[in-house]
Amino acid sequence: MSIRVHIGGQVCLPEEAKISIFDRGFLYGDSVYETIGTAYGRLFALADHLVRLERSAERIGLRVPPRADIERAVAQTVAAAGNRESRVRIILTRGAGKLDLDPAAVDDTQLVVIVFPLGAPSAEMYEKGVSVAVVSVHRNSPRAIDPAVKSGNYLNNVLALGEARRRSGAYEAILCAADGSVAEGSTSNIFIVVGGEVRTPGLDVGILDGITRSKVLEICRDNGIKVRETRFLPEDLRAAAEVFITSATRGALPVTKVDDNPVGDGKPGPVTRQVMALYDAMARAGVP
Ligand code: PDD
Repeated sequence: MSIRVHIGGQVCLPEEAKISIFDRGFLYGDSVYETIGTAYGRLFALADHLVRLERSAERIGLRVPPRADIERAVAQTVAAAGNRESRVRIILTRGAGKLDLDPAAVDDTQLVVIVFPLGAPSAEMYEKGVSVAVVSVHRNSPRAIDPAVKSGNYLNNVLALGEARRRSGAYEAILCAADGSVAEGSTSNIFIVVGGEVRTPGLDVGILDGITRSKVLEICRDNGIKVRETRFLPEDLRAAAEVFITSATRGALPVTKVDDNPVGDGKPGPVTRQVMALYDAMARAGVP
């Protein structure tokens, strides 16, 4: 179980990996990133993650290295780490320059790849479910740092998770949009099940276009599970028969407590379990 870093074109140990204190990723969160998990020893949906990375970079005017260079850096770092299952973080920063907010002041994209052991939730968390808390911190407005851009500026989400942990020791924070409807978790998308129908906020609410979210939507559509992208409120979340969250390193993870109240009978429900099984089958088959 080890950590390896690809930086400055080389793979090295974490303690050898250094970046300038003038790097704009450090100074301003002027960076974009992706987190990818492996499943059954292979990267899951690498191509989708690289497309989103490029889209995020384009949205903030950050020059992206050729895709083949990123793929090579990822492959080398995963191989060097040698973990059974890995979590891969790909970071692109705008680089280092003088203290000047103007993004045009620097054009020196830095590619950093960090590979960790996967660190997926425990078997008990999948069996019993986790808790979430709806927090007072709102998801960023799409007119501020657009949630669709997976930027390195996560302070809003850091504060949201801090509130959830402090208030009720909840595993994940759920943030609402400015209109009060449920948006997403601090590092996850959220789904509810109502009357057998799977529901998740649409992208128009102002959320990250989660790769796992889109795979779950695909799984539902392909397997005759009713599914709808729609706005819903925190009270709908609290009243839902089932709730689950999704992200690259967790897949679909059941939620059995919302704001200290049990969801349904307090156990992961049948639709959630079906989605988990179908997602696992998809991962086993492999997604390039
Ligand atoms: N987070 N929403 C937010 C705000 C996220 O940060 C993430 C992912 C997701 C889920 O997206 P995906 O299914 O593509 O992982 C939704 C990753 C895990 C992270 O921050 O490391």
